[in-house]
Amino acid sequence: MRGKFITFEGIDGSGKSTQMRMLASELRFRGLNVLATMEPGGTPLGRRLREAFLETEENVAPLAELLLFAADRAQHVNFLVQPALAEGKIVISDRYADATFAYQGAGRGFSESVVNQVIELATSGLKPDLTLFFDLPIEKALTRTANRSDAGEQKNRMDKEPAFFYERVRAAYLKIAKEEPERFRIIDADGSTDEVKALVLKIVLEFLETV
Ligand code: TYD
Repeated sequence: MRGKFITFEGIDGSGKSTQMRMLASELRFRGLNVLATMEPGGTPLGRRLREAFLETEENVAPLAELLLFAADRAQHVNFLVQPALAEGKIVISDRYADATFAYQGAGRGFSESVVNQVIELATSGLKPDLTLFFDLPIEKALTRTANRSDAGEQKNRMDKEPAFFYERVRAAYLKIAKEEPERFRIIDADGSTDEVKALVLKIVLEFLETV
């Protein structure tokens, strides 16, 4: 039986990566076969691409950025995600194609039709079965990422955008939520880590029961 594909999305600082790790271990604890992965950087080539474009000081043309995320995704879908789904695994990815729609589309200004074509090419049409969007007011998300860099974590190129960029990104995610309410669930990421963890687990277990 084909597995299930669950993606996590959110503004930087929304806490989704921590939540993803916790969900993966809760599901494994229940005996489920889980692949936890990420974009960009889920494959060896993807990790090199990630370093090349998130950590460069060089100006990166918006089109190069769009295509590099797409290249990372093509490699990831082909060599990791599709094979794991074919083996019946539950694949959980920290970001996927909706991030391109939000960051390169709404954030950088590429048209929906260009972004959708690039996504279609990179994914061969593979869509997540369920997407959790970790929503948080932009000021709070920015405060969290600022605290992270005070704590010595490196800021990447995408973390240095002004607030209005993230407002556009957030609005794009909320638009997807309106258009695809079945697949795309909004999680209020403003609660405590434990509250959010319990909500995430509830949604995912209910989803897995119904499919
Ligand atoms: P990362 O350090 O993984 O951030 P986070 O932990 O917040 O996910 O960096 C990924 C960055 O790349 C993040 O700012 C979002 C951005 N991104 C895009 O702009 N487009 C994409 O298609 C993807 C997958 C990520």
